[in-house]
Amino acid sequence: MCGIIGYAGHRPAVPVVVEGLRRLEYRGYDSAGIGFCRSGELHIVRAEGKLGNLEEKLAKAGPAVTVTCAMGHTRWATHGAPEERNAHPHASNDGSLAIVHNGIIENYQEIKADLAARGYVFRSDTDTEVLVNLIAERRKSEPDLLHAFAAALREAHGAYAVCLFDRDEPDTMYAARMAAPLIFGVGTGENFVASDIPAFLPYTRKVVFLEDGEIVRADANSYAVMRTSDLTPVTHEVKTIQWDMQAAQKGGYRHFMLKEIFEQPRVITDALTGRLSAARDAVLLKELDALPVPKRLHIVACGTSYHSGLWGRHLLENWAHVPVQIEIASEFRYRESLMLGPDDMVLVISQSGETADTLAALRIAAEHGAQTLGLCNVVGSSIAREASAVLYTQAGPEISVASTKAMTSQMLMLTLMAIYWGQRAGVLSAEGRRERIAQLLALPAQLEAQLPSMHEQARMLSRKYAQARNFFYLGRGHCYPLALEGALKLKELSYIHAEGYAAGEMKHGPIALVDQTFPTFAIALDDALFPKIRSNILEVQARQGHVIALTNPGMDIAVDNVWRIPAISGPLSAFLVLPCLQLFSYETADYLGKDVDQPRNLAKSVTVE
Ligand code: AGP
Repeated sequence: MCGIIGYAGHRPAVPVVVEGLRRLEYRGYDSAGIGFCRSGELHIVRAEGKLGNLEEKLAKAGPAVTVTCAMGHTRWATHGAPEERNAHPHASNDGSLAIVHNGIIENYQEIKADLAARGYVFRSDTDTEVLVNLIAERRKSEPDLLHAFAAALREAHGAYAVCLFDRDEPDTMYAARMAAPLIFGVGTGENFVASDIPAFLPYTRKVVFLEDGEIVRADANSYAVMRTSDLTPVTHEVKTIQWDMQAAQKGGYRHFMLKEIFEQPRVITDALTGRLSAARDAVLLKELDALPVPKRLHIVACGTSYHSGLWGRHLLENWAHVPVQIEIASEFRYRESLMLGPDDMVLVISQSGETADTLAALRIAAEHGAQTLGLCNVVGSSIAREASAVLYTQAGPEISVASTKAMTSQMLMLTLMAIYWGQRAGVLSAEGRRERIAQLLALPAQLEAQLPSMHEQARMLSRKYAQARNFFYLGRGHCYPLALEGALKLKELSYIHAEGYAAGEMKHGPIALVDQTFPTFAIALDDALFPKIRSNILEVQARQGHVIALTNPGMDIAVDNVWRIPAISGPLSAFLVLPCLQLFSYETADYLGKDVDQPRNLAKSVTVE
């Protein structure tokens, strides 16, 4: 997610803003920029890459020490390459306005076309540049900038946190939010807006948490919060932040991993943004429009991304009738019997977009003449650049080495692909699409509501089993990949040996391991395979194995620990199962005093073989 900071006060604003951006660096970014007014003109300085590049440019831009109002931005590209021309701030054509933005304006293409027809020109690929010119256009008919800003925001659909400057009001900043974080910092003779509290924590601990659909206008000594819909004033309590800087960067969570687990409802919302028809009866994946529906799809990935693909296979085959083969990248790349050709599509899944084995697999697939498709989180990463087409998960930077929200976003994208190809192949009816899309739209609220109780249950069970030296994770059908992921999470976080297994495989050898020291975590949901998995659980119990059963209300199961979560029919139940597995591993590792965000021996991106 991008980082935003706006400052209006009594200090030299440019250093305050640069340091604020530095305190937001942990969020990840690929370009940065600053905007301020000087001598009646708007000045914008931007640079690709890290903040040091921006500081070098600022040094050459001449003294701005007299400037006491400025804004800054670190960009995490969601669409539009991470180049200077796409970096923020963006200015209106007439040079009167500048804006920084975090989020996605779903309908920016339509707005852009209308503005272009009115003679506006665009120098970037961003939705942000469209928004600032829409505000400039509305200012022609609205009584003032505030009204023009509000009018433009009411036309913009999607998510935004924005800060806006006007060269005619050099000491004033405007800001607004909708479905993207923006916090107001109340200082003494100075005020701040920022994506996150760390940006201004050294200057003030007093904050106003702006709500969605609100606008704020501020200068050094005053601020006013209003509703975007009708500009009626809003009063919020000023709260005092008790966190230290490090806690603030984690949003108050103990670890980035926990923060990212709790971000998953928003990750689902963000992945859906701009990808559903207005009637909510079709999926829009324009990145795939030029590609045929695959005759044969090969999914290749590593680790958690491989587990996402294994899970997605069920949907792609059942909903789109696309035959899927799946393989881990390190095996795929060395297999001599690869039979690939133009009728094959190879989908490589990679959060980082830099995993060596996965990148090698992509290149080999291309050499064999197959179509290649990337599913990545990092815009402009190697895999994203080299694949014939790429879909972005829009999950924002994942800081913790253990992948959590990335998997949720990958599964969400695979679900959208299954619906999209199903509708294109004519095998998924409009009713079937509407039903599945409605289920997807309900997920964020369902997960949001359940996370606190999931966390409490995970904490309790982790204390009970933290001394285990071994664990089985069992699942069937679309829960088998989840069992693999649960085992991986426990292994990589708590260093407890854990085996993920297809439950039906237990009697083919692994059950020899089971005794009272070897507990089992079984995923036993209310679906057609429940009787089968329950038999497997009985087999484990007959060998004195202890069992945690993750199941749904009303399911008749008698084990040491029954963990019930709300039932969601079909494979989308995975979006409630996965956070349980993540939280159990997180709490176990934290209880054992492990380095949760940086487990031993692991790297966030395995860029070597
Ligand atoms: C997941 O928790 C691990 N950190 C690891 O398995 C990771 O998923 C794997 O290395 C693949 O990374 P990628 O998605 O960036 O390609």
